[in-house]
Amino acid sequence: MSEPRSAPVTVPKVRAAKVRDGHPPLVMVTAYDAPGARIADAGGVDMILVGDSVANVVLGYEDTLQVTIEDMAHHVAAVARARPGALIVGDLPWMSYHVDTADTVRNAALLIRAGAQCVKLEGGAVRAPMVEALVKAEIPVMGHIGLTPQSVNAFGGFRVQAKDDESARLLVEGAQILVDSGIFAIVVEAVPEKVGAAVTEALEVPTIGIGAGPHCDGQVLVLHDLLGITPKTAKFVRRYAEMADAATAAVAAYAADVRSGAFPADSEVYH
Ligand code: KIV
Repeated sequence: MSEPRSAPVTVPKVRAAKVRDGHPPLVMVTAYDAPGARIADAGGVDMILVGDSVANVVLGYEDTLQVTIEDMAHHVAAVARARPGALIVGDLPWMSYHVDTADTVRNAALLIRAGAQCVKLEGGAVRAPMVEALVKAEIPVMGHIGLTPQSVNAFGGFRVQAKDDESARLLVEGAQILVDSGIFAIVVEAVPEKVGAAVTEALEVPTIGIGAGPHCDGQVLVLHDLLGITPKTAKFVRRYAEMADAATAAVAAYAADVRSGAFPADSEVYH
């Protein structure tokens, strides 16, 4: 999308943003609260994903399976209160879109009413009925294929996906079915570079890669990973700061000042 942003980012603008049509790569980052959303928006991202990664990144769980639709609505609302110009994508958590289409639409509506402008769900062709139902209810949907973290138990861990020709073919086929069902963009996570390129080439809608190489129509990273708050990050993460170290040093300096009597100073006292 063009820089600097002059108007709020919308779903149709994102849908049209294929790199091969001359658009610059889309930029998405996660945020889970108002300060995170303000930082992301001031940094000029196109989309803020209120990801279910809030489970492991912020809430201390081992995986994303523990967060509920109510948890996600709580975090979407916090992000929305920052009133970002970036598009807010609300992540549908595990079991909020797996039972039936009516349940899926009701759950997605909770995220929309909390302030999301669209929702994201994980999985391939099997999700087509849910995507169709959401689109019929006027809820724009972003797909998510490849390493879908909600499938951690089915996959037996967090592993690179679509490593052989057949699974790569199935991944592209599934993505095309989701496009036919109405998704406006799709996250492609942890697949070999050539699979990221193949799915980007095949689809009319933008692909947003995370560990899917440079040929996608955009990239997404977890905010806490790129800021260097997360202790250990995956190979595909670039850490643009080491904020955990900076924050620890700041707290240690404060503790030392309190213990030495250097804080508070005269200027920090009400007289
Ligand atoms: O929840 C999340 O942060 C995500 C990204 C990894 C794409 O789904």
